[in-house]
Amino acid sequence: MSSDLPAHPYGADIGAVLIDEPTLQARVRELAEEVSDRYRDAEEDIVLVCILKGAAVFLSDFSRALTVPAQLEFMVVSSYGNAAESSGTVTIVKDLATDIAGRHVVVVEDIIDSGRTLAWLVDTLAERDPASLEVVALLRKPDRVVVDVACESLGFEVPDEFIVGYGLDYAERYRTLPWIGALRPEVYR
Ligand code: IMP
Ligand code: MG
Repeated sequence: MSSDLPAHPYGADIGAVLIDEPTLQARVRELAEEVSDRYRDAEEDIVLVCILKGAAVFLSDFSRALTVPAQLEFMVVSSYGNAAESSGTVTIVKDLATDIAGRHVVVVEDIIDSGRTLAWLVDTLAERDPASLEVVALLRKPDRVVVDVACESLGFEVPDEFIVGYGLDYAERYRTLPWIGALRPEVYR
């Protein structure tokens, strides 16, 4: 199964590559074009709100492919629940360092699973009166969505498996893989 995996120290734990590096890089550039087109006429720099840590790798490639001026802000949230399921009870671990009132805000997220974390986040940021607010997410698991949260740009839909790589982790591992794969079930069971 993993004989076609690119050589990597984490490779032994990965069942299959779901999105290889060239496909990922090409789609990230398309997402950056989509978002750039929407803000072509914005009078001020847009604000990218990166949800750490998962979206950091995506943000790094995505932001450098934008053709409109953008500023980087970071937020850490923690979603309570068990390892496999978020509950929708979210707390802010690290808040934004800037006031987003009147700004064009683009939330940059790694993956929409149940949608609970993002739904809460969008509501919370909306209360701060940004000029506009939208979401760009790299991945979504359509079979898992419980809360339907608007996502203006989406990279890929992925199957209901445990996804790692390109920022996504399991127990803090695998984030540095340059492609996206499915973790072997025996690793997390
Ligand atoms: P949600 O609130 O259920 O949508 O959970 C979203 C968060 O859970 C994401 O931002 C990820 O941090 C994490 N997550 C959900 N599914 C996966 C996965 O397959 N691999 C790694 N992290 C995941
Ligand atoms: Mg996350």
